[in-house]
Amino acid sequence: MKTKIIPMDEKHIDKEALKEAGKIIQSGGLVAFPTETVYGLGGDALNEESSGRIYQAKGRPSDNPLIVHIYRMEDLYPIVEQVPETARKLADAFWPGPLTMILPKSDIVPRATTGGLDTVAVRMPMHKVALAFIEAAGGYVAAPSANRSGKPSPTLAKYVAEDMDGRIEMIIDGGENRIGLESTIVDLTEGIPMILRPGYITKEMLEEVLGEVRVDKTVLDNCSGQPPKAPGMKYRHYAPKGELTIIGGPQERVVDEINRRTKRMKEKGEKVGVIGTDDTVSGYLADSVKSAGDRKEEATIAKALYRILREFDEEGVTVIYSESFDASEENGIGQAIMNRLLKAAGHHLEQI
Ligand code: TXA
Ligand code: MG
Repeated sequence: MKTKIIPMDEKHIDKEALKEAGKIIQSGGLVAFPTETVYGLGGDALNEESSGRIYQAKGRPSDNPLIVHIYRMEDLYPIVEQVPETARKLADAFWPGPLTMILPKSDIVPRATTGGLDTVAVRMPMHKVALAFIEAAGGYVAAPSANRSGKPSPTLAKYVAEDMDGRIEMIIDGGENRIGLESTIVDLTEGIPMILRPGYITKEMLEEVLGEVRVDKTVLDNCSGQPPKAPGMKYRHYAPKGELTIIGGPQERVVDEINRRTKRMKEKGEKVGVIGTDDTVSGYLADSVKSAGDRKEEATIAKALYRILREFDEEGVTVIYSESFDASEENGIGQAIMNRLLKAAGHHLEQI
């Protein structure tokens, strides 16, 4: 299969190209598209066979449910059994946007889309290309992140192409995604709302609207033996090819420690990459040193993280050291950053 790549930015929506993309979805094909978080790999959410094709293209186990993307609020009602007050409030506050809600599914959503579950994950993205594409596709687009299973989610179309070229019909290239980490997932099906995956919409923001909100224990702990509530969070994730270790501690000591280890690894013939921050990058000795961004503006770090992991792969880096980030609850997006970084590192975090 030849994969067609169509450039499109939010200011210039190409209706003709979207019509073609919509036809592909409606005839059971797959189209990757930009959202404000990461690129999605879209198929018809109400067609079992499309979901099957998504799993195949990603190389993803089919017990890992997909998020159904909608473009307007009224389309929520037909796919869920009921819309609780909590969901209405969250939709008012954060949709369109980087928030996914888990709700009891209705009969029209095939179990192939929900990984066999009776619940469905729903999100209304805010990227204008995504919204116009979902509309052209018929209103319900199932979309996981557009990476091959296990790899970092793509935040640029060239990384979608790297993983999906020849496996899907079309890629809509909307440039770099603004947020760079996947949406916050909140489960509204049981009592107190529970964050299953942290993201740009933080616990604090949700609590302002809902009152008490809990965070699934497996979000930052390794909790071996205990399955996370979002099935996808149990798989090896976001993993670069190089062996990644996170080093936490006082900044100066972290730089020294990473440099000490870098030297040792270089002597062994390894190619070493370091993830630092604007304040520290000039102090590292590794083969490839990258700043994730500014610690005072953690959104910059969220946006850069997956791109950096992919760049290390491109450069053939075999060992990676990363600084650690503040994941305390008050620190909004820090939890999301550490959740992804810990998974990418297989929870290999050393405090010094
Ligand atoms: O930002 C995003 O959410 C991106 C863009 C493309 O919208 N999508 C995305 O999808 O990250 P994916 O498939 O890579 O991650 C979806 C996560 C998985 O961990 C999955 O297990 C969980 O959502 N999930 C989906 N449906 C669920 C359900 N009914 N109950 C619990 N977890 C669910
Ligand atoms: Mg994913």
